[in-house]
Amino acid sequence: MPDIYRLVGPILRRVDTEKAHGFALAALRHGVVRRVFSQVADPATLRSVVWDRVFSNPIGLAAGFDKNAEVFEAALEMGFGFVEVGGVTPKPQPGNPKPRLFRLNVDRAVINRMGFNNDGLDAVASRLRARDKTAGLVGVNLGKNKESVDAAADYSALAGELAPAADFLVINVSSPNTPGLRALQSIEPLLEIIHAARSARDMAVATNPPPLLLKISPDLESSEVNDIAKVALDEKLDGVIVSNTTLARPQSLNAPEKVEAGGLSGAPLFEPSTRLLRRMYELTNGSIPLVGVGGVGSGADAYAKIRAGASLVQLYTALVFEGPAILSRIKRDLTALLERDGYASIADAVGADHRANSSN
Ligand code: FNR
Repeated sequence: MPDIYRLVGPILRRVDTEKAHGFALAALRHGVVRRVFSQVADPATLRSVVWDRVFSNPIGLAAGFDKNAEVFEAALEMGFGFVEVGGVTPKPQPGNPKPRLFRLNVDRAVINRMGFNNDGLDAVASRLRARDKTAGLVGVNLGKNKESVDAAADYSALAGELAPAADFLVINVSSPNTPGLRALQSIEPLLEIIHAARSARDMAVATNPPPLLLKISPDLESSEVNDIAKVALDEKLDGVIVSNTTLARPQSLNAPEKVEAGGLSGAPLFEPSTRLLRRMYELTNGSIPLVGVGGVGSGADAYAKIRAGASLVQLYTALVFEGPAILSRIKRDLTALLERDGYASIADAVGADHRANSSN
């Protein structure tokens, strides 16, 4: 597979970050992936079944890359095992003023304060309804409008309209760029949102509805993490995505852009998000599928997330730095690591660290 990103990557890295993202989306819309990347079938070791759905590999494209459901087919062709489109809000909204996306090159990180810029529910739903469902698994990240005063009504509208077209739905109350959104992670508003979204989903799709997941912030206090784990168990949530971007600014950051406001993603998020993933696995006794996201840039990173408790993994920022060739590297190295440790499948390795610790 030719790595054209070696050629265009340095150019893209020099232009404005959001413009570079725009070029990438345009290239994907125009079928560049189809012409340049030859699809190689995923090895059987990487195949897994989660929520009765077959994932040919566990590496997904995280929310925020394809906010408007325009390039998910190209992302699947690129080799992602699944794609999460969105965040989508009921009404279209422009998001925050530009610039709002910053690359921290020396830190392999990004800071964004996009603020849920998206085409809105109707546009995204109609694109998803038109898709070929056999082409791969596509979920949707749900967010509330900035001006909305009734969050539960927003999530309900989104879940109802998108349920028939989505393979999974994600209640996102963890993006740091919508004022007040992350406060919805506390028990009372969270329960209200889960109940509203679930009943709308069930009204729309009575049998085998898409699983309902919750995506959480890495900046939660430990008491809040305990509360969310309890809600996840009590409410029988189908999954938890750990985690969104962080408002923290680790001491290790060196890029001048570290002073920008917004959510930090990429390499510096790996450790805190994996720690939270590990904790969530413990608190839920491994009984709820977890999706590990935050700073994954290699097969070893993906394997660490899986061993910490992730059934599936996602990435975004590493794709910005490495380009699409990162996927075949991750899948090759992850396969080798599983085989090295004697695991015949992903499922066998999920949560392995916890078992290793308890037998010591
Ligand atoms: C995001 N992310 C995100 N998450 C979400 O739940 N809804 C969203 O709309 C967005 N939007 C978004 C935009 C941009 C520009 C970035 C960089 C990120 C967060 C993303 O899905 C993921 O959780 C984090 O970026 C951590 O993963 P990586 O990037 O470190 O692999």
